[in-house]
Parts: sequence; structure tokens; C-alpha cells
Amino acid sequence: MLYFSLKMSELLVIAGVVIGVLMIFRIYVNGARCKSKAKLHGKTVIVTGSNTGIGRVTAVDLARRGARVILACRNQTRGQAAVDVVQRESGSKNVVYMQLDLASLKSVRSFTETFLKTERRLDILINNAGVYMQGTTEDGFGLMFGVNHLGHFLLTNLLLDRLKECAPSRIVTVSSYLHNHGNIDFDTLRTHKEFGVGAINSDLARNLNKMSRRLLKGIAALFFKDVEAGAQTTLHCAVQEGIEALSGRYFSNCAVQKVKAKAQDDAVAKKLWEVSETLSGLS
Ligand SMILES: NC(=O)c1ccc[n+]([C@@H]2O[C@H](COP(=O)([O-])OP(=O)(O)OC[C@H]3O[C@@H](n4cnc5c(N)ncnc54)[C@H](OP(=O)(O)O)[C@@H]3O)[C@@H](O)[C@H]2O)c1
Ligand SMILES: *[C@@H]1O[C@H](CO)[C@@H](O)[C@H](O)[C@H]1NC(C)=O
Repeated sequence: MLYFSLKMSELLVIAGVVIGVLMIFRIYVNGARCKSKAKLHGKTVIVTGSNTGIGRVTAVDLARRGARVILACRNQTRGQAAVDVVQRESGSKNVVYMQLDLASLKSVRSFTETFLKTERRLDILINNAGVYMQGTTEDGFGLMFGVNHLGHFLLTNLLLDRLKECAPSRIVTVSSYLHNHGNIDFDTLRTHKEFGVGAINSDLARNLNKMSRRLLKGIAALFFKDVEAGAQTTLHCAVQEGIEALSGRYFSNCAVQKVKAKAQDDAVAKKLWEVSETLSGLS
């Protein structure tokens, strides 16, 4: 009996230590948090792709701070459902859906027309929507290039005057550390617009059986940031006071980070800007 209870207490200690270590590990994985308590009453924010994932968490936080939040999403059903969730979780009614499909330059134009007509301010634009999929946009561009870059490029340019009128305003474009592995092939972009920026789609999860998918999910739950944590750097860039001098820089884990030389090449940046102006129909 004594032997058993001793074993039991040992087990409990071991279990406690394991749970403790896992919890500390999770805190470590989730990384830095946005510390700003800034309020946003009277300010208007657009978050693209905010019906789910990191975008929706971002929208909830900004609504809690008092901002008027526009959920710019492609699917009305999912967008409206997200309005309910964001209103409920933030306790704010000042959240609305507006249709925006970044895979269509026409949709980007009609979104900005409606927005500029019906809304008076724009203080923060968060370019969050993103896809990692093969395919082509309505205008025939590679899906990832078209949605992640070109659609947001046009959106940002069409909203720029309103953002300037509301200065000090901010634009946050969500990126990924994967940019370190990318290259821009302007020749391919010119001859095969459907390829856009060269990217690899490994289709990793699709061919896995149920068991492997579960295993992968378990590993992800342990080693990947949750969406709450994933939104922290976006929020930091959107609201943190005192980072104005770092405008244009790349942030990760709520801090400014160095990027590789190829991501600091002004000539490439200028060329991409000009190509984007042409492809998006801005010039
Ligand atoms: N998760 C990560 O590990 C990670 C890492 C680095 C960077 N990021 C970036 O973080 C951002 C958010 O990603 P997430 O992880 O939250 O992904 P997610 O859960 O897949 O959400 C992506 C959002 O983008 C929207 N979207 C896709 N195509 C669109 C289009 N054509 N027009 C308008 N909206 C569109 C989606 O809408 P639907 O629901 O209609 O598809 C969805 O709301 C992305 O830019 C992503 O590249 C993510
Ligand atoms: C919008 O989303 C709903 C729910 O996920 C889906 O049933 C519907 O087919 C989608 N509509 C379009 C046009 O993609």
C-alpha cells in the first residue's frame, strides 16, 4: 500500500514536471507579444483575409481597442460569420464586412470605390490575406503572386491618399520568413505571367493518410505558434508607439529584423514596383 502510494506520488511529480516543461516550451514557441495598450477609438482599420486565422485574431484585438474594423474578405458567407465572431469576442459592434477578392483586380477596384465612398477614414491598412496554392487569378496571374503581392499592391495604392489624409497612419503587410528563400525572376514574369514569383508547392499534406495527418497536427500543436501568437507581430506593427522611425523595415517576433542583402536591393525593389504598376493597371 505504502509502496503504491509512493509510486503514485512519484508519478504525479513526473507528470507535473512534464506538463510544466511543455507549458514553458509552448510559451517559448509562441514568442513575443505585442505590449502596447494603445486605444484606437475613432480610427478605422482594414484587415484583408480576416474571416479566419491570423487575420481574424488581429481583427478581434483591434476591435477591442475601439477601432472600427472592416473585414475585407472574398466570401460573403464566411465574412458575415466572422463579423459575428469578431463582434462577440471583442464586445464591439463596430465591425463590418466588405467584399474583396484579391485574386481579381476588378474586385480590388470596386472594393476601394465602395470603401472610399462609404467610409470617412483609414488609419491602418493590414495586408494579411495570403495563399499557398497553385492556380491562376481572374486576370491570369499566378495565384500566390496575384493575391499575396499584386492584389495588395493595387489595393494599397488606391487607398494611399486616404491613408495620407489620416496621417499618422500605418500600412502593415504580412510576410513570411520564407521570403529569404525566394528570388524574383523578372524575365519569367514578363513572358509567363501565370508563374509569377517562382514558388514550390509540395502538396505535403494532401497525400498523407489519416494517421500521418493526425501525427502532423500533434507536432504542429507542439512546435508551431498558435494564431493568437501569430498575430502579435502584426499588432505590434499596427499599434506600438515609438516605432515610427522603423517605417519600411521587416519585423518578426515583435522586433525589427535584418533581412538578406537580396531583400534590400533597391534596384530590384524599384523594378518590382514598376512591373507591378504595369501589371495591376495602375500606370
Ligand atoms: N500560418 C503561418 O505559418 C504563416 C507564416 C508566415 C506568414 N503567414 C502569413 O500570414 C497571413 C495569414 O495567414 P494564415 O496563416 O492566417 O492563413 P489562413 O488561415 O489560410 O487565412 C488566409 C486568409 O486569406 C484569405 N484569402 C485567401 N485568398 C484570398 C483572396 N483571393 N481574396 C481575399 N482573401 C483571400 C482567406 O480567405 P478564405 O477563408 O476565403 O480562403 C483567409 O481569410 C498570410 O499572408 C500568410 O502568408 C502565415
Ligand atoms: C462561401 O463559403 C461558404 C461556406 O464555406 C461555401 O459554402 C460557399 O460555396 C462559398 N461561396 C463561394 C462563392 O465560394
